Amino acid sequence: MADKAYLEFDGERHEFPVIRGSEDEVGINIKTLRSVTGGAITLDPGFKNTGACESGITFLDGEKGILRYRGYSIEELAEKADFLEVAYLLIFGNLPTKEELKKFGIDIASHSMVDEDVKKILDAFPKAAHPMGVLSSLTSALTAFNPSSVDVSSEEAMYNAIVRILGKMPVLVSWTMRKKMGLPLDYGDTSLGYVENLMTKMFRKPNEEYVINPVILNALDKLLILHADHEQNCSTSTVRIVGSSHAGLFASLSAGISALWGPLHGGANQAVIEMLEAIKEDGGDTKKYMAKAKDKNDPFRLMGFGHRVYKNFDPRARIIKEAADEVLHDLGIEDPILDIAKGLEQEALSDEYFVKRKLYPNVDFYSGIIYRAMGIPIDMFTVMFTLGRLPGWIAQWKEMRLRKEPIGRPRQIYTGENFRPFVALKDRT
Ligand code: SDX
Repeated sequence: MADKAYLEFDGERHEFPVIRGSEDEVGINIKTLRSVTGGAITLDPGFKNTGACESGITFLDGEKGILRYRGYSIEELAEKADFLEVAYLLIFGNLPTKEELKKFGIDIASHSMVDEDVKKILDAFPKAAHPMGVLSSLTSALTAFNPSSVDVSSEEAMYNAIVRILGKMPVLVSWTMRKKMGLPLDYGDTSLGYVENLMTKMFRKPNEEYVINPVILNALDKLLILHADHEQNCSTSTVRIVGSSHAGLFASLSAGISALWGPLHGGANQAVIEMLEAIKEDGGDTKKYMAKAKDKNDPFRLMGFGHRVYKNFDPRARIIKEAADEVLHDLGIEDPILDIAKGLEQEALSDEYFVKRKLYPNVDFYSGIIYRAMGIPIDMFTVMFTLGRLPGWIAQWKEMRLRKEPIGRPRQIYTGENFRPFVALKDRT
């Protein structure tokens, strides 16, 4: 394949170098475009054709439905690793040795206390506040209680900021849920593993012994792994661009949480369950909702379907669908919306509109069914996505800072008014 690209513009021919990734992805490097053309830029709403960076963290092939973290397949990691191992892999680049993993866990656990004054901020929120808004606020507020986390100029300072947030985020997640459910806040038990401790913080009741259900533990660990990173998606790009101004890690993560909240992104896992519930309430008529999804005059979209990159089955959705069957079977739960979801999937896979647009179930289509079986409130589903994505955001932010990437500042094409002189108020009609 060529190692140069050419552009003919305004009677001149310009040459641009072609960069080839380790998985043979090809990018045309247009760093000199504006200078050699006298000011021309590219225009690419939604960045569908634009690479923001080079990265060595996650590789995905949307056509083949491949997803790998640091070269390891998502299928193997979901089956053979635990979430803390995967977090270490994403952030530091290799699977940890026993000693490295043990130290990582101890360092994180040593930061799993949150300043009592953070509770005053939590208390200021109404119970009905959406947990993603609460979590984004509390995450940003953590900077005030951990000012040293902003300076990551040394390897030690970067490491400390990372283990701090990995220790404190599960506390904020559990507090956000317990506040909503009217439960007393819980700090968990640092003698437990990362996900065991998360479950304890979230579900333990003060007046009874809490026994961890291994089926739920295994499913939650797998869900967190499957959500851990996904290259330059909307929220990760947000974390990178906010961090590129050298805003602190916690502030950058808070911005990422806000981006993930949207129903077109991580908020889709909540929207899927709301959609499936609406279909159930409406007599389970999936064909009616398929027609609505295809009707250009109807704003309704089949939530949990379609993806900017995957034009094949999202490999995560395949694993989560199997896990949903296992969890509901093991817990003896008959959830009619799982059957509705499977019915929609079957219909879409043979419907010309969906086939032509290559719209398949994505990571959000089945995940909410498992969260619901775990007893997690529906508006906490995207908070669970946040917890999974946390190590990926951290890894991407760290890569951007260590590579000393420039501040993110896209250009635009101005299409507004040309110059016009000011008109005094008395003269305006
Ligand atoms: C996540 O980027 C990531 O990696 C994200 C994520 C991650 O791990 O970080 O994978 C997590 O965000 C998954 C996506 C969750 N969102 C949803 O499930 C919401 C429903 N999906 C859509 O809104 C949509 O598919 C997007 C937002 C996911 C992708 O949108 P694109 O790539 O901008 O595609 P598009 O909106 O231009 O759609 C292309 C065509 C359009 O029809 P035409 O104009 O060509 O006729 O497909 C149609 C769309 O109308 N379409 C849908 C549809 N998704 C796309 N039609 C009905 N239902 C849908 N869900």
